[in-house]
Formats: sequence, C-alpha cells, structure tokens
Amino acid sequence: MPAREPQRPGDLLLLGATSDIGGEIAQRLCSGRRIHLAARRPEALNDLDAQLRARGATEVIRHSFEATDAKSLNAVLEAIDGPLTYAVVCFGILGDQERAERDAEHAVEIATVDYTAQIRALTELSSRLVTQATPSVLVAFSSIAGWRARRANYVYGSTKAGLDAFCQGLMDRLHGSPVQLILARPGFVIGSMTEGMSPAPMSVYPSDVAEAVVEASRGSRSRTLWIPARLRVLAWIMRCVPRPVWRRMPK
Ligand SMILES: NC(=O)c1ccc[n+]([C@@H]2O[C@H](COP(=O)([O-])OP(=O)(O)OC[C@H]3O[C@@H](n4cnc5c(N)ncnc54)[C@H](OP(=O)(O)O)[C@@H]3O)[C@@H](O)[C@H]2O)c1
Repeated sequence: MPAREPQRPGDLLLLGATSDIGGEIAQRLCSGRRIHLAARRPEALNDLDAQLRARGATEVIRHSFEATDAKSLNAVLEAIDGPLTYAVVCFGILGDQERAERDAEHAVEIATVDYTAQIRALTELSSRLVTQATPSVLVAFSSIAGWRARRANYVYGSTKAGLDAFCQGLMDRLHGSPVQLILARPGFVIGSMTEGMSPAPMSVYPSDVAEAVVEASRGSRSRTLWIPARLRVLAWIMRCVPRPVWRRMPK
C-alpha cells in the first residue's frame, strides 16, 4: 500500500510581513507550510524569506500589499488558492503624536492604517475563513495603549481601543465557527516600532509576543492575551488612576 501523504497544514499569511512580531510568528509556524508574505516593501523580505525556507517552509510567496488600499488586499487574497489556515494582521504604525496634534491629515493616516484598514482586513479574512471547512486561526493586534488613552499617544491609543472593541464583537461572531481569533494586547515591545524610545516597565521582545500568540493558537478557543500575562494586573490598576495623575503619564 502506498504511504499516505502527510496532510499539509494549510497556508499562512502575514499582512504587513516586514513586522518584527509577524516575522517571529511565521518562523515558529512555517515548517511544512506555504507562506504568503504581504508587504508594501516586498524587497525588504529577503532575510525573512531565506529564514522561513531554512526552517522548512515548502514555499514562500511575496505579495505587494498596501493596507489602505482595498484592491491591494483583494489581490492578495485572490492570489491564495489553497486553504488559508493561519492569517496574521500585523501591519501598523505608531505615528507621531505631536505631529498628529497639529496635522489632522497625519491623525487620519494613523486612524486609517491602525483602525480602518485593520477592520477591512479582519472582515475580509474572517468572511473567507468561516466558509472553509478547515479550522483556522486569525490573529489581530490590539495594545495596552488602547486600554486607557494617554495624553502622550492618544491618537494611536484610540485606534487600538476601537480595534479591540471590534475584535471583541468579532470573537463573539466567530464563536462556534471553525475560526479561532487570537486578540493580542502587548505592552511595550522592544523593536522597530519603538526604536529610540525608552522601554516601559514589563517590556517584551517580538519573540515573546510570538511565543504567546503561537502557544494560544495551539488550543481551539478564541483568546484575548495580555503580553506579558502579568500586564493584566497593571491594566486594571491603570483604570483606577485619577485623571490629574494619569494626564502626566509618560510615553
Ligand atoms: N511594537 C510595540 O510596542 C507594539 C505594542 C503593542 C501592539 N503592537 C502592534 O503589533 C502589531 C505589529 O507591530 P510590530 O512591533 O511588529 O511593528 P513593526 O515591526 O513596526 O511592523 C509594522 C509593519 O506594518 C507595516 N505597515 C505600516 N503601514 C503599512 C501600510 N500602509 N501598508 C502595509 N504595511 C504597512 C510596516 O511596513 P514597513 O516596514 O514598510 O514600514 C511594518 O512592516 C501592530 O499592529 C502594532 O500596533 C506593537
């Protein structure tokens, strides 16, 4: 009798593939998989592409992707023909808070990338994934910054608050479906997005975030994850701080 072929685990997609966190997630899950890397600078993906192949990815396909453009998202999704079983929405910008306070266009840019484009991507992806019989995982990134908006970065924080609320509802919509939503709420992550900033208490690295996400996605339930887990305690304390004190919180 011919040996039965091992089942392919399904394709993995990173939307915003130059993301530090996204790259770390893909490296942990790429073995035996076809990987789709969608980024606005696909030419910057040489190292990640090579690392994924070295770790056993069966194929690495790069897509040109601009998150604020619906046609660009649709083109990426249409190009993926097989079952998509792991999708990570990891694009985002921190933006420049000071500039956003005087330049409304920049504030809108942050809102567009970090809220509107995320909602579009999560809606398109979840609609596709629920129609597949194969179980799948969808990962979205909220942040501690959205838990209670701070003077120092309230534009970015407000987008994360909105995205977090959207994902809580999406999680309920997906309950009982084959799609597991992992909503990550990292604290300060030491990486490209926070380059030049002083690490906040309980800072983590992109690899820590990836570990937590991958571990949570090994279960079958949707999850909301504080990263690190003990950040949950700080988050609840944050809610109790009186506004005159909160107003002075640093970045
Ligand atoms: N880093 C943190 O401290 C932290 C904390 C909490 C939550 N998060 C969230 O976690 C997620 C991943 O963050 P990260 O640390 O991995 O950030 P990162 O390394 O800075 O990656 C963000 C990625 O988004 C891409 N991107 C930005 N605008 C885009 C656009 N219009 N179209 C397509 N791609 C675009 C960037 O592409 P380019 O390389 O071309 O710029 C970059 O690859 C983000 O949602 C972030 O808000 C991060």
